[in-house]
This record gives sequence, C-alpha cells and structure tokens, in this order.
Amino acid sequence: RILSAQEAERQRVARELHDEVGQTLTAVLLQLKHAADRAPAALGEELRLAQETTRGSLDEIRRIARRLRPGLLEELGLASALRALAAEFTVPGLAVRHRIDRGLPPLDPDSELVLYRIAQEALTNMARHAAATQAEIRLRSSAAGIVELLIRDNGKGTGGAPEGNGMRGMRERALLTGAELSFGAGPYGGTEVRLAITTMAGSTA
Ligand SMILES: Nc1ncnc2c1ncn2[C@@H]1O[C@H](COP(=O)(O)OP(=O)(O)O)[C@@H](O)[C@H]1O
Ligand SMILES: [Mg+2]
Repeated sequence: RILSAQEAERQRVARELHDEVGQTLTAVLLQLKHAADRAPAALGEELRLAQETTRGSLDEIRRIARRLRPGLLEELGLASALRALAAEFTVPGLAVRHRIDRGLPPLDPDSELVLYRIAQEALTNMARHAAATQAEIRLRSSAAGIVELLIRDNGKGTGGAPEGNGMRGMRERALLTGAELSFGAGPYGGTEVRLAITTMAGSTA
C-alpha cells in the first residue's frame, strides 16, 4: 500500500509538472518570441537569451516528469526498461552495458517497480559521483527463485561516504518489498549495488 501510494503521488506530481508548469513555460516562451519579434535589436538579443533559458527549463521539467513516472516500465516491461536506462546513462566517456538473463522467475509489479527505481537511483549516483568510464546493469537469477540486480561501475568508489537521501530511499524500497540490498566494492573496483529479491518461486521452493 505504501508503495502504490508513493507511486500515485509521483504520478500526480509528474502530471502537474508536465501539464501545468510545462504549459505556463510554453506560454512564456511564446510571449517572449512575440516580444522579441517586435523589440528593437538591442533588446531583441536579450529576449532571445531569455527564450533559450526558458526552453532549457522546459526540457528540464519534462525530463523530471519522465523520471517521476516510469511509463517505460509499464509500456516496455522490465528488461526493455532496464536496457533503456542503460542507454539513457550512456554518454560520451561513459559506457553502460546491460546483461539481462532470459527466463528469470517472474516478479510481481511492486518488485519490478522497486527494482527499476533502485536501478535508476544507483545509476544516477554513478553518473553524479563515480567518475566512472564503464558501468554495468546485470539482472540474473543467483539461486532458485532469487532475482538479483547488480549495478557496478569502475569509478572511484563511495570511500565510505555517509548515506544520503538517495541511499536511504533505496533501503526503504528494498525493505518494503522484502528484498536484500547492499552497497560495496565491485569486481571492477568502484561501487557495486546489489539487490536480491526472493520471488514467489523462491519462497515456495
Ligand atoms: N557509484 C558511486 N560512486 C561513488 N560514490 C558514490 C556512488 N554512489 C554513492 N556514492 C556516494 O554516496 C553518497 C550518498 O549517496 P546518496 O545517498 O544517493 O546521496 P546523494 O546522491 O544525494 O549525495 C554520495 O554523495 C557519494 O559520495
Ligand atoms: Mg543520490
């Protein structure tokens, strides 16, 4: 219940950001264009700069709204959504690989959501803090009925940094779905985030 309440709240915030703030900014953009077209040259340049800033802000809002609402997960399913995450975080200088096994035991929707959110936060941390050049998303079955997510990078490691909201949020989500979460050094140096979910197949085995 807590998870679906959180998710409903995120959907609402995403919708409002996208629809309301997005629309207002779009209106500002049009007003600026209108003014820029009629303004004297000296002012026109400044107004065009303001347009650029507004456009950037609009892109940012849409990006935030997309992150809040994992539509990809619903539309594509977990494997494709994780591949899309790998692609999203692959930028010049950082390659994010994905290795997603076939035939994994099925996860219930809550577990899928937790897994996706944790992957998203782990990759965000990796992009922000790790200074890595290589990273990997791995999804496999480590034992009968256990689905294991590994997010690994070859960056500088957490260096025992205190946990912030991101890591606490990951722990809460894992706890709510009865999964096991750990942070540590990975096989490529850097950091490894590991999430192990026991599926129905595992708990009845
Ligand atoms: N993949 C990573 N590589 C290096 N440092 C990391 C990584 N993930 C987390 N950290 C460290 O752990 C800290 C806490 O992360 P987090 O709880 O998500 O808070 P925040 O990202 O807001 O700083 C980060 O500030 C960073 O120092
Ligand atoms: Mg973080």
